[in-house]
Amino acid sequence: MSHQTILITGASRGVGLALTQAFAAKGYAVIATCRNPDTATQLKKLAHENTAVSILPLDVADAASLQSLTASLGDQPIDILINNAGISSGANPHVTALDNDASQNIGTLDPAAWEKLFRVNTIAPLMVTQALLPNLKKAETRKIAMISSGWGSIANMDEGVFMAYGSSKAALNYATKSIALSLQTERFVVVTLNPGWVQTDMGSPKADLTPNESAARLLRVITMLTPEQTGLFIRHTGEILPW
Ligand SMILES: NC(=O)c1ccc[n+]([C@@H]2O[C@H](COP(=O)([O-])OP(=O)(O)OC[C@H]3O[C@@H](n4cnc5c(N)ncnc54)[C@H](OP(=O)(O)O)[C@@H]3O)[C@@H](O)[C@H]2O)c1
Repeated sequence: MSHQTILITGASRGVGLALTQAFAAKGYAVIATCRNPDTATQLKKLAHENTAVSILPLDVADAASLQSLTASLGDQPIDILINNAGISSGANPHVTALDNDASQNIGTLDPAAWEKLFRVNTIAPLMVTQALLPNLKKAETRKIAMISSGWGSIANMDEGVFMAYGSSKAALNYATKSIALSLQTERFVVVTLNPGWVQTDMGSPKADLTPNESAARLLRVITMLTPEQTGLFIRHTGEILPW
């Protein structure tokens, strides 16, 4: 059983909720953040049943919300940060992996939708990481994981769909390697992870993995990370992915 502290964004449902459950079951103190704690019914139930889970509000794309979070945390050490919160479309929050989102197709691109997607999927995880660096430096573990996507790989791209979503994750991957290189001398391990195709609101019920299966695999990858792996793009299976 671990006595480390982990902070997870987007813990209200899907992969974030499953990661919260998985890490809490291994004895981690989990700071589960979500933008609307009042409506996060499953997360509240989990926190009620397991005192290792605490809930704090965080809208990752809102600077004031991030500032409130850091004020609540004070100088509490954090061992691991997982930037999980993400959206599939800036035009419609209910777009699943099976849908066609016109705002991302050449011919009907919507710049406002792109900006929203990049704000949540690319810029927000960087701002959250930056804001929590003092807390991460107070612990020895110093691990940061970005939840990216297979669609963030340019090398593996085989269809011209979800252009904005994939671009937001490819940009996140670039930034992750940059942060990894910048923080290497301070003994940080910073990686970007592909959780697989997961049965969540975003992934759709047709996806390959249940949230618990994906979370168990991500937990294994994250807990086994070595300093040599910093800056890598890693699949839930542990396989290294091409950019
Ligand atoms: N499912 C898949 O097949 C799949 C595949 C590859 C990558 N991913 C990635 O995995 C991560 C989790 O996705 P998921 O499948 O679990 O999606 P999901 O079920 O749609 O859940 C998304 C989570 O992100 C949160 N979120 C969205 N915008 C936020 C914001 N501004 N501030 C705070 N939280 C916010 C949501 O909170 P609310 O409940 O408040 O909306 C929710 O907790 C994402 O980064 C996604 O891109 C998923």
